[in-house]
Amino acid sequence: MSATIDIIAGARPNFVKIAPIIAAIKARSAAGGPLNFRLIHTGQHYDRQMSAVFFSQLGIPDPDHNLEVGSGTQAEQTAAIMTRYEKLVLAVPPACTLVVGDVTSTMATAIVAQKLGVPVAHVEAGIRSGDWTMPEEINRLLTDAITNWFFTTSVGAGANLRQSGVEAARIFFVGNTMIDTLLASMDRLQPPDFWQTHQLAPKNYLVTTLHRPANVDEEGQFFSLLKTIDRGAQGLPVIFPVHPRTKKTLDKIAGQLNSIKFVGPLAYLEFNYLVKNAKAVITDSGGITEEATVMGVPCLTLRDSTERPETVTIGTNEILGTDPANLAGALERVLAGKWKKGGIPDKWDGQAGTRIVAHLERLV
Ligand code: UD1
Repeated sequence: MSATIDIIAGARPNFVKIAPIIAAIKARSAAGGPLNFRLIHTGQHYDRQMSAVFFSQLGIPDPDHNLEVGSGTQAEQTAAIMTRYEKLVLAVPPACTLVVGDVTSTMATAIVAQKLGVPVAHVEAGIRSGDWTMPEEINRLLTDAITNWFFTTSVGAGANLRQSGVEAARIFFVGNTMIDTLLASMDRLQPPDFWQTHQLAPKNYLVTTLHRPANVDEEGQFFSLLKTIDRGAQGLPVIFPVHPRTKKTLDKIAGQLNSIKFVGPLAYLEFNYLVKNAKAVITDSGGITEEATVMGVPCLTLRDSTERPETVTIGTNEILGTDPANLAGALERVLAGKWKKGGIPDKWDGQAGTRIVAHLERLV
């Protein structure tokens, strides 16, 4: 008997995580497998460069439904996603709702599904930063509190879930779908159009991304981080693809920066080409710490915590906090070639999507 699962995606990192799951369902269904899917885009991210470009580069089919919720406060977005997704589920209930990651769309649709008696599967379940000031941590806690089947990227994530009382039989350590996408795309990575104009060459530049409220919402903090990066780069160009949230603060900053080149948000293949060839990455993203680990590129994280500790204990990542003073010393070490080499965490091997679908065929 065939069953339809809802796959939810709302924001940029979600698109990268769902692609291999969709590919695995399609491959199995072509071979007579029992699952099919309905793809729901909540519309949390809607700019072409934040959304459509990822669908086309990663071969994700057009969504069956776009809830078009757009921007708003956390509560406004949550409410709009819940109200609109509820209508879909009431009209045609799926056999399961599959959510990925930790964005507002993840949490909002999980609540709707579970309240209507639809089992919830969470991909990238169980990771915890312990930092309740981050909306993502609240989303993780709430989603995992009402998830039926937990697909995890690390042994530590499973341990977190066990500690909160989840039975081992509902936890499946499958690996990392974000890394599935990266490994499947490695041959197709391509230089961005400014590669020539900014005179970039392998390992002669840095990449920076910052978009967390703690780093970019306040002009003073943001500018002092930028100044430290600018000085610490020792004349190397620093490419900074600017997230829309970051742009709002950047537009108000007038100070002089010599090395940092601000560019718009990049598409997937261009961004990862840039990371792969960079001397180092300075970021406050979580997903980028995983990608940098797999590509063996030094990663300097400007946060006080991480929900992905294996990128530090095994990978190339270091947690520096948000104090500009720490960053200066770390930049010196990285440019002097004194950075750890790093290894690759267990099961980050490109097969997570296939493992998830094999479990789902049994569970749903
Ligand atoms: C969201 C996720 C975060 C993820 C990030 C990746 C949550 C709580 N956070 O944060 O985990 O790392 O996406 O990008 O879900 N905007 C646009 N165009 C767009 C999308 C957003 O201009 O296509 C603007 C919005 O108007 C808003 C700002 O960017 O002012 C932030 O967008 P939002 O979706 O609220 O959260 P992110 O900061 O992107």
